[in-house]
Amino acid sequence: MKNIMSKNILRLRKEKGYTQKRLADLMQVSAQAISKWETGQSYPDIELLPRLTDVLETNIDTLLGHIPGDNKKTIYSEVYKDDDFYWGLQPNELCYDVLKLYPPNGHVKLLEVGCGEGKDALFFARNGYDVTAFDIAHSAIDKVYRLADRYRVFIKAFRADIKEYRLEDDFDIIYSSRSLHHMRPDFRKEIITDYQVHTKPNGINALNVYVKKPFIGPPPEEDQFAYLWSTGEIFSLYADWELKCIDEVIYDCSSSGIPHKHVIDILVAQNTIRKKGD
Ligand SMILES: C[S@@+](CC[C@H](N)C(=O)[O-])C[C@H]1O[C@@H](n2cnc3c(N)ncnc32)[C@H](O)[C@@H]1O
Repeated sequence: MKNIMSKNILRLRKEKGYTQKRLADLMQVSAQAISKWETGQSYPDIELLPRLTDVLETNIDTLLGHIPGDNKKTIYSEVYKDDDFYWGLQPNELCYDVLKLYPPNGHVKLLEVGCGEGKDALFFARNGYDVTAFDIAHSAIDKVYRLADRYRVFIKAFRADIKEYRLEDDFDIIYSSRSLHHMRPDFRKEIITDYQVHTKPNGINALNVYVKKPFIGPPPEEDQFAYLWSTGEIFSLYADWELKCIDEVIYDCSSSGIPHKHVIDILVAQNTIRKKGD
């Protein structure tokens, strides 16, 4: 928890455009104290929390990485409550790329970001990966657990907001399909760096993201918290990694019952960076 709180203080301070010194002045503490909070070496005193949340224009739940009640809904929160699977049960093609490039030989830890109802998480769990998955929607996580029960596999699923959640464990594989448009553009570098730092040596990140194109209209489901990526943007964030697969495809979709098209950039990259001394 300390790690999440420290990362949130850092993120929210940067979001406000404050230096550590500026935040220290506003909080009437030393810049060293701020540095310790942000590196997880200490917590702010409990009596400082109301002031800290005021200064950072946030609340204690957000600071602690907790999603209160049903505050955070997505446009899918209601449809996920149905017994039917809104996205079907067919795994995304990217799952097969992962299976080929990083088969589950031995204990392979995989994190899925924005897992929805869990069709891809299920695929990975059934193939022997150790799967952790998160999504912001309560109803999504309920559905993941139901699916895992039905197929008698274990998936560790929990609610978290992509914008606020920072990783604590390391994974062999970080996977996300059609969910990373919920990261605001100005935080993508920081969040993707967090995913990279928490990917084990030789581990992979397998991601696909919706891309904006002038010749493709907006999807029928209007989502005010969606920020499409630019062509190649996700690839450039992996410039230092070994790119195993990059592609851009246009595909037909009929979610919400209205036929439409999406453009998607697909990336599989491997963490082959050598650490100093290796
Ligand atoms: C297009 S769906 C894709 C779901 C799944 N990956 C799939 O391919 O079936 C996007 C998912 O992102 C989730 N989502 C939206 N905003 C989010 C956020 N801020 N943090 C985490 N998940 C979020 C939605 O609940 C939804 O399940």
